[in-house]
Amino acid sequence: PGDGIGHEIIDAAVKVLEAVGEKYNHSFNFERYDIGGTSYEKYGVPLTEKTLEACKRADAILFGAIGGDQWESLPPHLRPGEGGLLRLRKELNLYANIRPVKAMRALLHSSPLKESVVAGSDIYMVRELTGGIYYGKPRERRENGNLAVDTLLYYRHEIERIVEKAFETAMKRRRILTSVDKANLLESSRLWREIVEEKSEKYPEVTVNHMYVDAAAMKLVNEPTSFDVLVTECMFGDILSDETSALTGSLGVLPSASLSDTVGLYEPIHGSAPDIAGKGIANPIGMILSAALMLRYSFDLYEEAYAIEHAVELSLDQGYHT
Ligand code: IPM
Ligand code: MN
Repeated sequence: PGDGIGHEIIDAAVKVLEAVGEKYNHSFNFERYDIGGTSYEKYGVPLTEKTLEACKRADAILFGAIGGDQWESLPPHLRPGEGGLLRLRKELNLYANIRPVKAMRALLHSSPLKESVVAGSDIYMVRELTGGIYYGKPRERRENGNLAVDTLLYYRHEIERIVEKAFETAMKRRRILTSVDKANLLESSRLWREIVEEKSEKYPEVTVNHMYVDAAAMKLVNEPTSFDVLVTECMFGDILSDETSALTGSLGVLPSASLSDTVGLYEPIHGSAPDIAGKGIANPIGMILSAALMLRYSFDLYEEAYAIEHAVELSLDQGYHT
């Protein structure tokens, strides 16, 4: 569950999964472990070996949310984000982050964009998750703190596997792949673009567009319906996925899946919202839809996943909103 509203939203998702289990005759075994600030308070580290081992043993991981201002001034390896979530992603090799963003009928009115622009948007973001500037070394302060260094680097194989995933995803959808980079400036983006070109030969049915990240940021709000699958590196994907979430009118309703070749971690894209934690008013939809993604990607339970997604849509249609 992690921190803040993590517990509430995980409770909601577990209830939904238990209902699915009853209806479709499955049983799920849940185990709970600490991570993030909560773990730091109890054990002095944001991710314990015990939690890590449990995640490695699991068939799938439901992840609530982490973070809180009180832990942000700790050294990086003790912060909930870097020491907890980022380490877990790396240890489990969860290199592919899938963030589906779909305009929901009942929420169109709460989008800051015109209904006519946003209606029908259905975007699959495929974000690289274990490389790039988030993990690149050196990363440090020099010259008495007056020089700050981050490193953006990508190995060919890291790009190849995520691009491959994106093409595979596009084949199952409308077969339009937009690859987002900054190839007019960055070396890593040039390599990225080269690899997308190479891979596209294997997928002649997929239409590939290359787009610079600044232009993509604009087009996502101007003409969101023109996108199908979007693939990009870690930090561009982080920024663009929050931007895209505004289409739906709420960050609170968006799920994500982080996949390795063997295991998946499922988490809403929002944070731990400490300001509303414990009040019972957090929107659990992002977490519940993440559980649906888990059924689909980790357990091949397609009908069950769809049942959850459909139920969420029906509830919203009936006017149940936070
Ligand atoms: C996300 C979050 C994380 C990220 C943070 C908490 C490190 O913003 O999952 O999008 O940037 O990947
Ligand atoms: Mn983010």
